Amino acid sequence: MPDGERPAIEAILRRRSVAPRRLVAPGPDGNGIRLMVQAAVAAPDHGRLRPWRFVLIPDNRRNTLAEAFAAAARELDPDASAETVEREAEKARHGPVLLAVIVRIVADHPVAPASEQWASAGAAVQNMLLAAEDLGFRAMIVSGRKVTATALRKAFGLENDEHLLGFVAVGTPPAEPAPIARPEADERLSIWRASS
Ligand SMILES: Cc1cc2nc3c(=O)[nH]c(=O)nc-3n(C[C@H](O)[C@H](O)[C@H](O)COP(=O)(O)O)c2cc1C
Repeated sequence: MPDGERPAIEAILRRRSVAPRRLVAPGPDGNGIRLMVQAAVAAPDHGRLRPWRFVLIPDNRRNTLAEAFAAAARELDPDASAETVEREAEKARHGPVLLAVIVRIVADHPVAPASEQWASAGAAVQNMLLAAEDLGFRAMIVSGRKVTATALRKAFGLENDEHLLGFVAVGTPPAEPAPIARPEADERLSIWRASS
């Protein structure tokens, strides 16, 4: 890894997700959250669609979100046990800062097909995660089957062309996360040989 000379690359290589249940206070304050969203807005975005937005879950709405998570769990599995439903509901209380990521896909756009709009959403999330780490926190995006549940879609008032991509949790881990093994660049890089 470069040594202090390439801070952006070093930050990217150092980034580690920390599970929302492990993140405790403090999380970023209002200014920090705005910086994270500003970083997201700097993502590549074909057609300037900005096909994504973020919804902050305030502390006083965590119980309401927990009810929506429980409803989603029951919707996805009507036979789900009370313990399973409660475990899902509890996830709404994880992470001192929690943001829903909503993607709006413009169908048949003349410039940016849906795949590019999803790519832009991924880049926006990555910028947000990196910004969270630059502010001294750790973060993770999580989803789960619940993101497609009608109960949750309704709770966020989603239109038909909108998708709940997941939730970004941000906070402080009790201990530094262990490094993760990642593939070497050469495993993911090849030289093009034109096929006829
Ligand atoms: C849109 C999206 C949703 C994800 N949802 C989950 C999830 O529900 N549960 C999970 O364990 N990981 C999920 N992940 C993967 C983690 O966020 C994380 O990237 C992975 O654990 C690898 O860790 P790392 O980011 O430190 O490399 C998701 C990733 C993306 C891009």
